Amino acid sequence: MTNTELFSLAVKAAENSHSKYSGFRVGAALLTADGRIFTGCNIENASYSLTICAERTAVFKAVSEGVTEFRAIAVAGSSDGDFSKPCPPCGACLQVLSEFCGDDMVVVLSNGWYRLADFLPMGFRSDNLR
Ligand code: THU
Repeated sequence: MTNTELFSLAVKAAENSHSKYSGFRVGAALLTADGRIFTGCNIENASYSLTICAERTAVFKAVSEGVTEFRAIAVAGSSDGDFSKPCPPCGACLQVLSEFCGDDMVVVLSNGWYRLADFLPMGFRSDNLR
């Protein structure tokens, strides 16, 4: 699975976005350590704060199926069908990703790939509770 292929799956996942309030469609494609893909989209709600982002949808789908080891996530977001502008994960999604993924997890955006630690260099993790 190339980064380009993973990004295409994120764009595809955005088709199911339920984003009638923001009009911003987001898709995520999460690559597991054993080569499987879990996709997610943003799901908004009339009670706005109950919205969940595409990345967390994908992570929670995977974890709820017993999968907790991940290699990469691609994220694609757009308000007009053009997914060429990068859509970096929000802070809440970075925190959830950091629960399950190390600093070197690959984050694929429209303009290239990054490491999780590029976005969240000193995240709060279970180690900090000791
Ligand atoms: N959104 C995501 O799905 N992922 C992010 O990382 C950033 C924001 C969604 C939430 C909301 O439905 C819309 O984008 C506008 O904020």
